[in-house]
Amino acid sequence: MTIRAVVRGVGHYLPARVVPNAEFETRLDTTDEWIRTRTGIERRHFAAEGETTSDLGAKAAEAALADAGLAAADLDAIVLATSTADLTFPAAATMVQQKIGMTNGFAFDVQAVCAGFVFALANANALIQSGQARRVLVIGAETFSRILDFEDRGTCVLFGDGAGAVVLEAAEGKGTAADRGILATDLHSDGSYRDLLYVDGGVSTTGTAGQVRMQGNQVFRHAVEKLAETAHAALDKAGLSGADVDWIVPHQANLRIIAATAQRMQVPMERVVVTVQDHGNTSAASIPLALSVGKARGQIKEGDLIVTEAIGGGLSWGAVVLRW
Ligand code: ACO
Repeated sequence: MTIRAVVRGVGHYLPARVVPNAEFETRLDTTDEWIRTRTGIERRHFAAEGETTSDLGAKAAEAALADAGLAAADLDAIVLATSTADLTFPAAATMVQQKIGMTNGFAFDVQAVCAGFVFALANANALIQSGQARRVLVIGAETFSRILDFEDRGTCVLFGDGAGAVVLEAAEGKGTAADRGILATDLHSDGSYRDLLYVDGGVSTTGTAGQVRMQGNQVFRHAVEKLAETAHAALDKAGLSGADVDWIVPHQANLRIIAATAQRMQVPMERVVVTVQDHGNTSAASIPLALSVGKARGQIKEGDLIVTEAIGGGLSWGAVVLRW
């Protein structure tokens, strides 16, 4: 008997304000055409003034709980991935806990930038497999619009705000790749790549939140190489290959990165959930958003084999193989 962390519910929330590419044309030397062709992004959502990461996360959490048919009191833990927490402390996860009315269990944040949700899933899986929790709410929530330099055309057109969440629940499996739930995880980071993608501020340096700085073409090169490698490694650990994959649900940063990774995994684009055109890069929120949208579109169904893969600042990257 093997304990598996099975997805019982999924949900998402996007702030009301939609920002089309055309809005950037008015104040920057850029065009809708450039943004679409280089990134696949057509629009993104930005949070309203006063709307915080934990507000978005709580709404996604409530949607995931409703989908699971569970109440907040049924949860043992919340793991929230974000780089844009409401405050330096406490953890945004505890603010979500308060907003959804959960007073039991424990809650903490995970910081692995765009790879955050993959790291959070792996942590939640470990909590469940080690018997420390039976039901874990895993959230990715971001308000990246708050750390963008709106004068820098190379970064500000790429990101958006949003949140997604899944409820994981312990279930008995046979220990084979036919089980539902998380089958394998593969995580990496290498801090020597710090300067490729970082925020130029923080508590113990400038005392300010800072803004995103990125060497886009270098990140692009690492992304294509490392995402396919980690996805293959996770599939190997599960005893599976690209041919077994029903859906790649990738981090949504750039359509060209998504397509190049799928090609390296020999998975056709018809089997990739793509939401980047509507959400932009929502960092740690992008995979749970895509899982929720993919299910709502009727793409993801019970029993499907899913590979999620992501890379972000650090660099940090990883993949999770799960059967829905
Ligand atoms: N509009 C018009 N021109 C632009 C824009 C813009 N919004 N942004 C950059 N350019 C210009 C550059 O200034 C450069 O001009 P130059 O040749 O005169 O110097 C030219 O376009 C080419 O720049 P590159 O950076 O080489 O363009 P590239 O084809 O690599 O595309 C992009 C840039 C879209 C940022 C790409 O590198 C990318 O997507 N990288 C991945 C970065 C990413 O997604 N990071 C998110 C976090 S990590 C992750 O999630 C994977």
